[in-house]
Amino acid sequence: MGLAAASDAAQKINVVPLSSALGADIVGVDLRAPIDDATTHVIRQAWKDHLVIRLRGQELSEDDQVRFGETFGPLNRSARKRAHHNAANPAVMLISNIRENGQLIGALPDGEMQFHTDQSHQETPCSGTMLYALEVPRVGGDTLFANGYTAYETLPDAIKQRLAGKRALHAYDYDNASTRRGTVLKEGVPHAVHPVVRTHPETGRKALYVNRLMTLRIEDIEPQESEDLLQMLFDHIERKDFVWGQTWKPGDVVLWDNRCTVHARTDFSAAERRLMRRVTILGEKPF
Ligand code: SIN
Repeated sequence: MGLAAASDAAQKINVVPLSSALGADIVGVDLRAPIDDATTHVIRQAWKDHLVIRLRGQELSEDDQVRFGETFGPLNRSARKRAHHNAANPAVMLISNIRENGQLIGALPDGEMQFHTDQSHQETPCSGTMLYALEVPRVGGDTLFANGYTAYETLPDAIKQRLAGKRALHAYDYDNASTRRGTVLKEGVPHAVHPVVRTHPETGRKALYVNRLMTLRIEDIEPQESEDLLQMLFDHIERKDFVWGQTWKPGDVVLWDNRCTVHARTDFSAAERRLMRRVTILGEKPF
């Protein structure tokens, strides 16, 4: 594709904000074919500006989704084995409540999930997560996103000062507390320590980096003070005016930035099928 055509493709894109909190629809892009550099640039800029982007009505093979994911950086290919054994491409993980022969075909199967940011229990959490919807329940199973920049920026100065330089322990208990927070670190549970306020490596902006599902405690303060502070920060980041909710339709592609957002899932009926394909973009150590 020549430069003039490339620029034509990029000029046809519309970026339509979804709420005052965050989020934008990218309209006018078909992801079945590779996208040119100018289009990539527009989409990447929209992702930086809006934190969560959505492209509706897509018909993607696993390889199409992986190719689009790779325009944002190298993908994680170490997803847990049991969660992607039904996907052919090793970068793809299935998120699903579907059981075949009594076995789950994907990860994070059932119901509501508290607000979290992906892989904050790891040393280098993924920078972005992309879900592509194949089957969705008629009601519920929405994904809610909250803006971590706004959450930080609207904290009282006294709290910002209290949080300056503080670090927090994040853990994720795949077996016992995968949807609701645990309060003690059990042996063998994967965990990591990160700044409570992190700086986004591309925008330079500060974002609140704690979440209700995986942040267990703030280090170097009394346990009760840590718990009180965390509960206040969880409530703050989840404020309604910082949140936008995605109600899924098959064919939706949503990409979110884990460095400056948290997300949650609303409940849905166990009798309904939900099937998403997920890829995650490798990230950096939070600072
Ligand atoms: C996730 O937290 O990565 C899954 C979100 C969802 O299933 O909506």
